Order: sequence, then C-alpha cells, then structure tokens
Amino acid sequence: MNKISVLLILVGAIGISVYLGLSFVNIPIADNSSSWKPVPIGYAQGEYGLQMQKATSARDALGSRLMSQLTGAIESDGPQGAVGICSTIAPQLATQIGNEFDVSIGRTSHKLRNQSNVAPDWMQDVVDGLVEEPSVFAKADGSIAAAYPIRIAAACLLCHGDPDTILQDVQDQLIMHYPEDQATGFGLGDLRGWFWIEVAGE
Ligand code: HEC
Repeated sequence: MNKISVLLILVGAIGISVYLGLSFVNIPIADNSSSWKPVPIGYAQGEYGLQMQKATSARDALGSRLMSQLTGAIESDGPQGAVGICSTIAPQLATQIGNEFDVSIGRTSHKLRNQSNVAPDWMQDVVDGLVEEPSVFAKADGSIAAAYPIRIAAACLLCHGDPDTILQDVQDQLIMHYPEDQATGFGLGDLRGWFWIEVAGE
C-alpha cells in the first residue's frame, strides 16, 4: 500500500465519521402548534378578510345543517333516537363542510360528550380560559384559525340539560354511546363549547 492510498483511506474514514457524527446532531423540528399567534379580530378581518369570510360561512353552514338534521331526527325518531343519529351525522357533516369550503372544521368543548371532539392544540387557552368571544390565530405561512363560542338554546336542553330533567330513554342512549359523557348540566345561555375552523393562506 503506498502513501497515497493510506491518505485516501484516512480521509475517507474521517469523512464517514464526520457524516455519522452530524447525523446525531439534534436538529430541532418546528412545533406547528406553538407557531399560531393570537391576533385581534378587527385586525384579522382587515388582513385576512377572505379567509375570515370562509371561516364564518363554514361555521354558519355547519351550525344550520346540524340544527336541521337534529330537529328532523327528533321529529322522526324522538330525542332518544336522535342521539344515535347525531353520533354518526355530526362528524360526517364536519368533514363534508370542510371539503365544501376548503377548511378544517369541528366542534369542541370544555365538557366533552364525544371524546374525539378534543380541541386542536392552538385553542387550548380558549378552552382553559372559557373564552366567550370569537378568537383568531395566525401563522407565518398566512393560514388562520378561529374559534367561535356555542351557547345553549332551549332545544339543546333535551340532551345537554340538567340530568334530572333529561328523559330516561335519552339518558340510556347517552350512556350507551358516550360512557364518559361530561356534557350535561348546562342551563339556557351557558357556554357549551366552540366551533373551530382552520383556513389555509390564500
Ligand atoms: C338529541 C340530543 C341532542 C340535542 C338536542 C343536542 N345535542 Fe349536542 N350532542 C349530542 C350528541 C349525541 C353529541 C356527540 C356527537 C358528536 O357531535 O360527535 C353532541 C355533541 C355536541 C357538541 C360537540 C362537543 C362534544 O361535547 O362532543 C356540541 C358543541 C353540542 N353538542 C352542542 C349542542 C347545542 C348547542 C345544542 C342545541 C342547539 C345541542 N348540542 C343539542 C346530542 C344532542
């Protein structure tokens, strides 16, 4: 073996160990949830007007379609039947409206009935603080996220009211579908939870 090949082997070995060493260096990965920054709603309406419109239109659509499905189901199957219908229809409607408006949308609460309605990370402070006003967040890539409060109306008490006033049949259905249900005991006008919407940048 001549000097040149010894040198080449040495250089190669150093190169490989530097490469391996580098691959162990920890490169921090951006944490998406913490890069959402709260923005004042007035500012958001000016700066992100079209996205804000998309967010409120999607919220209105989900709210009104849920309401008509719910009243239809109560009329045809009674409130106890509506519990079962609600459990399949509500998540489907959220997906369908998300596709229609090109947003991600859902409902969440500080007192969950359906555990899969858990809040997205960016709205943890809204849930913990029981924020009763609309809240808007923005990310550096131009996307926005908004949370809008949902209040208890008279029709909601059938399934979210005081446990003593909820019909036995309804209670049976609730326990069957949602053994961990926390969403009873609300009164008229109470904060029940929030619609949340994420809208990508234009
Ligand atoms: C017929 C019974 C029934 C009625 C009436 C009803 N809900 Fe619900 N609610 C449910 C069921 C069942 C779920 C869980 C299904 C789902 O959304 O995933 C639910 C879930 C929710 C959620 C999602 C958060 C969570 O806890 O999972 C919100 C918010 C909510 N209801 C608000 C309301 C409001 C506001 C009204 C009145 C306008 C209302 N509900 C009327 C049965 C009902």
